[in-house]
Amino acid sequence: MRFNPISIRTGQAEERATLEDLQRRASLANPGDRETLLAHPDAISLPEAFLAAGQVHVAERGGAIVGFTVIRPRDDGDYELEGLFVEPEQWRTGVGTALITHVTEIARSAGANGVVTIGNDDALPFYVAFGFGRIGTAETRFRPAPLLRLDIP
Ligand SMILES: CC(C)(COP(=O)(O)OP(=O)(O)OC[C@H]1O[C@@H](n2cnc3c(N)ncnc32)[C@H](O)[C@@H]1OP(=O)(O)O)[C@@H](O)C(=O)NCCC(=O)NCCS
Repeated sequence: MRFNPISIRTGQAEERATLEDLQRRASLANPGDRETLLAHPDAISLPEAFLAAGQVHVAERGGAIVGFTVIRPRDDGDYELEGLFVEPEQWRTGVGTALITHVTEIARSAGANGVVTIGNDDALPFYVAFGFGRIGTAETRFRPAPLLRLDIP
């Protein structure tokens, strides 16, 4: 199962709770987020509107959901990645790369110049490995976080 092929499809409204559970498991597996999220469980949330707008992209492997991401257009011509979560037992098997490759192609097809995201210290090596560069620091609800951008040539 761990190395079966990955397929990606649009998330459905009725999958909201399933995806939030996945988001919780992934986020709690980040040492830097764990204590904060245990103290503020409301921080785990996937807005219904993202699902309704078809902005949630779900990765499946061997018939099981193994990750998801959200990408949305911004006003400045870039797209924004608003979360990327992979089942911890599937980390380092290419799911995150498959998801981000997929949504970057969506952004490229829509004429975007780049993809922007607010990362975290634990995920930073992943984003840098994919080609994102740090363009600043973003204030988030809990702490400053790396602001990252991938140029779409
Ligand atoms: C960040 C995250 C999405 C990465 O997903 P993933 O499926 O494990 O990523 P991939 O397997 O595609 O990794 C691709 C490359 O990124 C780098 N990378 C990924 N995770 C890394 C880590 N923990 N440390 C160092 N490099 C890492 C590696 O170069 C890796 O290639 P390799 O495994 O061949 O060395 C996943 O760890 C996750 O869900 N984290 C918790 C939620 C989170 O922080 N999301 C991001 C902000 S919302």
